[in-house]
Amino acid sequence: MSVETIRIIFNDEGADTYVVDDEEIEFGDIRESVEEVAGSLERLGYRTILTPLTEEGFDEFLKEINDGRADLVFNLCEGAFLNSKFEMNIAALLELYDLKFTGNPSITLGVALNKGWTKDILKGTGVDTPLHFVTDDPSVELPEGLSFPLIVKPLTEDASLGIETDSVVHTMEELSARIEHILEEYCSHALVERFIDGREFNISVMGNDDETVALPPSEIDFSEYPEELPRICSYEAKWIEVSPLYRKTPPVCPAPVSEELKKRLEATAIRAYRALGCRDYARVDMRLDKDGNLWVLEVNPNPDISRDAGFARAARAAGMEYHQFIGELVSIAAKRYE
Ligand SMILES: Nc1ncnc2c1ncn2[C@@H]1O[C@H](COP(=O)(O)OP(=O)(O)O)[C@@H](O)[C@H]1O
Ligand SMILES: [Mg+2]
Repeated sequence: MSVETIRIIFNDEGADTYVVDDEEIEFGDIRESVEEVAGSLERLGYRTILTPLTEEGFDEFLKEINDGRADLVFNLCEGAFLNSKFEMNIAALLELYDLKFTGNPSITLGVALNKGWTKDILKGTGVDTPLHFVTDDPSVELPEGLSFPLIVKPLTEDASLGIETDSVVHTMEELSARIEHILEEYCSHALVERFIDGREFNISVMGNDDETVALPPSEIDFSEYPEELPRICSYEAKWIEVSPLYRKTPPVCPAPVSEELKKRLEATAIRAYRALGCRDYARVDMRLDKDGNLWVLEVNPNPDISRDAGFARAARAAGMEYHQFIGELVSIAAKRYE
């Protein structure tokens, strides 16, 4: 399939804010990332059209994506109308209009939004994921085989929303309190799973069919992390650059791993990718326990691909400059439509 003009679609409802110590912090201005993707594509000789998605301008958005001017849509939408749960709906819309687009199909985006379904599929296809159960009852009893410590997460959130120090629980009281918190704050069931105390890796996977490859593994370096806190990538650690926890969870890519572990990380990530029906690109979170077993925590079928995010870092470690990486995503999608 020949691609000359690419339409980049993205959410344009303003930057997110977060309050730390009574101070409001703005982060994640999508415009900058969009310009970088557009700049990369233009550098490679493509023409680009930017089509923002807003609730107010939704009619206009529909008109534009159907104007026939682009050969391929570069999908940077992470939801719609300020709701990340609509991420799958945008992909579904593109499918409905029979438009060609980069990234994952709506069904994969939808399934991955539910961490329980994701884990059921992984288990069903023989990929190890920590033992878990899903509940909306704070007075639960522990199913057989599960013991403390456990981690409690919202069933249907991502980007570490609802992941805090209190997410790791050691007693029935803490467990009940945390389930209650999830029910109230996130209007979501709680996913309770075995807490894997060990190294954490993210593996970026690209491609389709037998051309699917894993990029060099990235590891979260917890060595400077406060001893008294459970080692997790909480919301604060992941996003709030001014937080000390952010600085104490730097990603290291390529991760210092043996050839044997690298092979296992890559193979496990690709198995998880295929199990979820992933397409073009996705990121897989994993932990290695003290006995050397690898556990898949989750699959992210719409990971951040901006220049300073983990995926681009892994691509860089594989020898791809940013614009080459973005170009590769286009080539992968275009090839799939042939
Ligand atoms: N079973 C687990 N054992 C240890 N740490 C976990 C476990 N599940 C999640 N975490 C920690 O919480 C972080 C966020 O959880 P994750 O399942 O990746 O959700 P998301 O990134 O979508 O919020 C992980 O990066 C990891 O640090
Ligand atoms: Mg994650």
